[in-house]
Amino acid sequence: MTKDAYTLASEAAAALRSAAGLDTSDAGFDTALVMGSGWVPAADAIGETVREIPFTDLPGFRAPAVAGHGGKIRVVRTPSGRHALIFLGRTHLYEGLGVDAVAHGVRTAAAAGVRTLVLTNAAGGLRPETQNVGDPVLISDHINLTGANPITGTTFIDLTEVYSRRLRALVREIDPTLAEGVYVAFRGPTYETPAEIRMLRTLGGDMVGMSTVLEAIAAREAGLEVLGISLVTNPGAGLSGEPLDHEEVLEVGRATAARMGVLLSKVVDRL
Ligand code: HPA
Repeated sequence: MTKDAYTLASEAAAALRSAAGLDTSDAGFDTALVMGSGWVPAADAIGETVREIPFTDLPGFRAPAVAGHGGKIRVVRTPSGRHALIFLGRTHLYEGLGVDAVAHGVRTAAAAGVRTLVLTNAAGGLRPETQNVGDPVLISDHINLTGANPITGTTFIDLTEVYSRRLRALVREIDPTLAEGVYVAFRGPTYETPAEIRMLRTLGGDMVGMSTVLEAIAAREAGLEVLGISLVTNPGAGLSGEPLDHEEVLEVGRATAARMGVLLSKVVDRL
């Protein structure tokens, strides 16, 4: 929104660097990962924990409202000796705290020196013909139906390639079986109606969720290279005949944690 959001992110970045034990002369962090619901159990595989900093210790962060969304930043050292920030939890637009709260983690990561951002999420699958529950899907593009944007004013950011083609190609070298798809975001917190799911299929969406797009836009504004990965936790509403349940979303994350952890640890070491 205003300059204040960026100033607050700089303050949070300074607090984060000092809480992580870095002083101003140390290089920052190369990579940040945002773990969506369902992804938190995969975080342990990425590297050795150096520090964990509760969100509430840093300016501008709130404790996440949602069960299963963590609520801290973990600093890890990867097997190749790099430092990464793992956000265990995120703020969603549906919490009603506004777009700057949603973008704050990404802006803080950027201000802390991060150049590469990995955004993960849990999503409903819009293509049950080809998708299985438990599949990770690389986000190739998005459709932002939240009605919101983290940027206000005359900052006209190019969104031709929000999700880096280079990074997607790199991940597919690690796992050539990964599909790509278009992620559609609604504000939530309701899941979609079956009519909305039919609409999204017609519009060219492949996954649907309630996060990621505003963070990705804020990241592009900050010049970060973005990788997005959805974990398909359920078929979209009306596609399976079953009602949707947040607990099911978390359960798929627990069941696939080992596979997602291996994937992410390989990805982080190649970035
Ligand atoms: N819709 C929206 N968000 C979601 C879904 C869904 O079906 N599954 C997990 N997050």
